[in-house]
Amino acid sequence: MQHLSFALSRHILLGKRILASCKRPAAFMSTLLINQPQYAWLKDLGLKEENEGVYNGIWGGRGEIVTTYCPANAEPIASVRQASLEDYEETIKKAKEAWKIWADVPAPKRGEIVRQIGDALRKKIKDLGSLVSLEMGKIFVESAGEVQEYIDVCDYAVGLSRMIGGPVLPSERPGHALIEQWNPVGLVGIITAFNFPVAVYGWNNAIAMICGNACLWKGAPTTSLISVAVTKIVAKVLEDNKVPGAVCSLICGGADIGTAMARDERVGLLSFTGSTKVGKQVALMVQERFGRSLLELGGNNAIVVFEDADLNLVIPSALFAAVGTAGQRCTTARRLFLHESIHDEVVEKLAKAYAQIRIGDPLDSTTLYGPLHTKQAVMMFLDAVEQAKQQGGSVVYGGKVLNRPGNYVEPTIVTGLPHNASIVHTETFAPILYVLKFKTEEEGFAWNNEVKQGLSSSIFTRDLGRIFRWLGPKGSDCGVVNVNIPTSGAEIGGAFGGEKHTGGGRESGSDSWKLYMRRSTCTINYTKDLPLAQGIKFQ
Ligand code: UN1
Repeated sequence: MQHLSFALSRHILLGKRILASCKRPAAFMSTLLINQPQYAWLKDLGLKEENEGVYNGIWGGRGEIVTTYCPANAEPIASVRQASLEDYEETIKKAKEAWKIWADVPAPKRGEIVRQIGDALRKKIKDLGSLVSLEMGKIFVESAGEVQEYIDVCDYAVGLSRMIGGPVLPSERPGHALIEQWNPVGLVGIITAFNFPVAVYGWNNAIAMICGNACLWKGAPTTSLISVAVTKIVAKVLEDNKVPGAVCSLICGGADIGTAMARDERVGLLSFTGSTKVGKQVALMVQERFGRSLLELGGNNAIVVFEDADLNLVIPSALFAAVGTAGQRCTTARRLFLHESIHDEVVEKLAKAYAQIRIGDPLDSTTLYGPLHTKQAVMMFLDAVEQAKQQGGSVVYGGKVLNRPGNYVEPTIVTGLPHNASIVHTETFAPILYVLKFKTEEEGFAWNNEVKQGLSSSIFTRDLGRIFRWLGPKGSDCGVVNVNIPTSGAEIGGAFGGEKHTGGGRESGSDSWKLYMRRSTCTINYTKDLPLAQGIKFQ
């Protein structure tokens, strides 16, 4: 059996090394952060020193114990007992059983349960957001923001639960009805990455639920406590409503569990967020059994700034897009193309803005920029900076590891690289911004599109014609196409995802719900005659 490093570290594919870091010996109980008074709120989320990482109506887990570490100080937080393959088998059976009950619940009533999940999350937004900061490492406002995304998508799904459905189409045959019927795929497997450990599950979970599916979630091992805390909130709502808990099953685990999900015919849709490399393996395994996958893979997002841009928008946008979440969003801006007439001015202003970034503890409200998630990410950062220099780039800001506990690196700006340098075409999941000079609109658009990935893109301009060319067939080839806003920070109401090596999936808003359902074209004859389509007489 092929083993994969599923979403352990989103775009840093060093499977073995990362697995090794997850397998650090379980820390002594007394040194765990959960036992320190300033982290007492962890217990309000139902967390303990050692937690069970499997939920299928009851909590369990017979796999290895994974201790997770705070990226800001490298201290152990608490541990989670992961799933064994026996737990997986047991859980998937329970989820399939639970689905039989859930599928019979009318969609608006399913929406009511999802509404209650949103409300339960509202009550826990501070504690859950704090846990995201502690375990993933992003700053609190961004952590609370991703809990908010889950809440928002719950609200969206509640409305959707009264709207999903297909048309009644005109039949060419008299006395015939042509109806499009949508049914749930059954069981939706959800594999999420460390960088959005709440929101990405939320997008899938809320929509999959109102569509009438049961869910089976595997989060990243390095954010196992978040997976457990979220599931505790969801499970309470299900149990209070006497809905089988296995409708939202949790299966904390590593590559063996991810592989089992990808190969399992009982998984009707596998939603995978992670690297392009692993995503491709997942897609092939799912395709091999003619299953359905929804892929949210790598991005290499560009901002193109034209000569007529409002620089008062450009500087804060580039800052948020490149430095937000310490460069670990799939929507992070990694390439900044500046028109030659404004290049030097923008670089100077941006470097000044970088110098103002308050680096610190993600839980401190004054902090704007926290650590990278893992030590491996720090190594990837250093490696990319080195390659950028070798390929002709100049580091005009940052480039170094910070001398403090935790995984802190300097937010970094590199100029002078050719647009087609291999490092510019590589997604490094770290806060490195490659700034390039361009001359024409044609060049700016072409450089945006020339990378393998196709997730997010932005232009800054006031030229109406240019805006519509950017949105049109010869404009951006990405799934997210913005004007005068950053590449990151999408709302839940639109469909989220990207083209090419980003995998083609769409989650969250618009008509993404269709991926969680199967469509039947139903023709019903309500006469005593049997006219055939296309006027065929078969006598
Ligand atoms: C991701 O990085 O996997 O648009 C998702 C954004 C967020 C979602 C990012 N709403 O940046």
